[in-house]
Amino acid sequence: MKIAMVGSGYVGLVSGACFADFGHDVVCIDKDPAKIEKLHDGIMPIYEPGLDALVDSNVKAGRLSFTTDLAEGIKDASAIFIAVGTPSRRGDGHADLTFVYAVAREVGEALENDAVVVTKSTVPVGTGDEVERILADSAAVKDRGLKVSVVSNPEFLREGAAIGDFKHPDRIVIGAEDDFGRDVMSEVYRPLFLNQSPLLFVNRRSSELIKYAANAFLATKITFINEMADLCEKVGADVQDVSRGIGMDGRIGSKFLHAGPGYGGSCFPKDTLALLKTAEDYESPTRIVEAVVKVNDTRKRAMGRKVLDALGGADAARGKKVALLGLTFKPNTDDMRDSPAIAVAQALGDAGVQVAAYDPEGMEIAAPLMPDVTMCADPYEAIDGADAVAIVTEWDAFRALDLNRVKALAKAPVLVDLRNIYSPQDVRDAGFEYSSIGRA
Ligand code: UGA
Repeated sequence: MKIAMVGSGYVGLVSGACFADFGHDVVCIDKDPAKIEKLHDGIMPIYEPGLDALVDSNVKAGRLSFTTDLAEGIKDASAIFIAVGTPSRRGDGHADLTFVYAVAREVGEALENDAVVVTKSTVPVGTGDEVERILADSAAVKDRGLKVSVVSNPEFLREGAAIGDFKHPDRIVIGAEDDFGRDVMSEVYRPLFLNQSPLLFVNRRSSELIKYAANAFLATKITFINEMADLCEKVGADVQDVSRGIGMDGRIGSKFLHAGPGYGGSCFPKDTLALLKTAEDYESPTRIVEAVVKVNDTRKRAMGRKVLDALGGADAARGKKVALLGLTFKPNTDDMRDSPAIAVAQALGDAGVQVAAYDPEGMEIAAPLMPDVTMCADPYEAIDGADAVAIVTEWDAFRALDLNRVKALAKAPVLVDLRNIYSPQDVRDAGFEYSSIGRA
């Protein structure tokens, strides 16, 4: 089966490469000639573990190709995926669907065969209806009389684990309104279905909402445990034990219960806001999600204060130096979008604290976002002369720091662990003043 993937960003590229690996014939399309040229040269435009090898082997096998030419790319494709960005519209939090609709119009102009058009981008409820209207009005349907079905198929990939998530999904959600759409999508996902991954067929609006509801629920789970962590600190409990204790209840589940500095990234912050806007538009308020958004925003800033406290408070901290370890919103990505590190660095800068940072993949993107932060070649360079070390992202590289070396290099043995990757006992035994999240 031939598949066209319009948009070769994170979702499009990972999904396209994985579909090709299943044996489909895939063309990834992108308007950006520089991106396509890089892909032709085997250079990935994003950092995702395993992606370069997957792309390379499928290109060599002749199943994966790249083009800037949409008309050429969608030729003979049975399924055309729209995987372009849906950023937050400036000022109001609504998802910006300009790119999605522009692709729908282009497809409608160029299409020469029956096809299923699939929204893979995260799009608000009702977007599929609008895409359907655009296509119904297009030359493909009006002049050429082609059969076109619009399907919603949200993705649930996590950055850093995207290939594994794609190949072993908990479920595949397909929102289709007719048999043509359902049949083509069954064919697209046949390799996963044979692998026992459940295919959930629902109507298109339910599918669109499932994506937002899933992300909002996960964001709620994280925010809930973060508030429990604050309470743990006050009452002398340990949030990791509380998390284990509640997570062993199958009704709750143990995942997404790691307390930390607040969620970030390209999805949870944007999608929770977009869901609030949809709820507002339909006059059906989602007050829990409203609270989650507020609590998470406040939390990121509060993390800066936590580091200042470790330095003896805002007044004592002025003029001191902090080493920030980890800048990306989570490990195994170079993504800085809504990363808690930005709020932490800002709070420290505002308090007159000097910041030196190290991140294995994120520094290039981080540097212009935090102009006052000195980027270092490794963790120890950042730690040299620091009055406190703060771990903001749980990269593996920070899990086994040489604590003796840290102590020797730092001005004071103060460690703030915003990801709970160290055992309080071990670090205190090594002579550090140690603070973490939700643990005495
Ligand atoms: C998230 C979802 O997990 C994916 O299922 C979804 O497909 C994706 O959004 C999307 O909509 O595209 P992602 O943003 O890549 O994936 O990252 P997550 O691993 O979910 O982490 C999000 C944030 O939550 C990070 O800042 C992370 O540090 C934080 N987090 C996660 C916690 O603080 N605690 C946890 O227990 C889990």
